[in-house]
Amino acid sequence: MSTSKGMNLTLKIWRQKNANAKGQIETYQLSDVSPDSSFLEMLDMLNDKLINEGNSPVAFDHDCREGICGACSLHINGEPHGPGRRITTCQLHMRSFKDGDTIYIEPFRAKAFPVIKDLVVDRESFDRIQHAGGYVSVNTSGNTVDANAIPVDKESADKAFDAATCIGCGACVAACKNASASLFVAAKVSQYALLPQGQIEAKNRVLNMVKQAEEEGFGPCSNTGACEVECPKGISLENIARMNREFFSASLK
Ligand code: SF4
Ligand code: FES
Repeated sequence: MSTSKGMNLTLKIWRQKNANAKGQIETYQLSDVSPDSSFLEMLDMLNDKLINEGNSPVAFDHDCREGICGACSLHINGEPHGPGRRITTCQLHMRSFKDGDTIYIEPFRAKAFPVIKDLVVDRESFDRIQHAGGYVSVNTSGNTVDANAIPVDKESADKAFDAATCIGCGACVAACKNASASLFVAAKVSQYALLPQGQIEAKNRVLNMVKQAEEEGFGPCSNTGACEVECPKGISLENIARMNREFFSASLK
């Protein structure tokens, strides 16, 4: 049983009825919030209160609540996933705030992430980028080669694994002044570019994924590095450099 003293908070939350409605910030008071609760539990508490008062709860995205799925996209006090580093919103705890704090909670902002309702945005643009090339073809006609039969050096395997930890949350886009998806696309390109299994479609992959990102309305990369700072999985800018090299050589051939 927690002995922590509850916090009193002022919440300034973006409310928007639907994709076409004009949204606005609404103010809510919430008292006796445990510092041990997660940020999403705090929002659950607010929603219980709103429902009990006959008001509409705040819509927000969540699924795993353990930093795996990437659903919990919230802009908290001007930062994607809030004040912590290398964590998602669902891993953020209220002990990161103080009693009496005012907290601004908004959806991720980008033309390619339109708001569906309140704090929920549509990130299907990321799915379409993945569909454009974020896969490998495997021969399943009876001649399948065991993946372990193809040697991969340790350094490449580690870097490919690091790139593959991208959870598609979109914080990199929300952090970028150009709303660029470069870190996301670079992670998805790199996880295959580093492996022999990824070479067959390598050229088309990078060309098609970059093209799709542009068509979705994501902006260009201007190397500010805000994406790397806000990425909950620590995806390195090194991946953007690799994607650019892949793109350049694929464009020449
Ligand atoms: S690169 Fe990082 S911030 Fe961007 S979608 Fe992947 S995990 Fe999220
Ligand atoms: S709810 Fe899945 S990462 Fe936060």
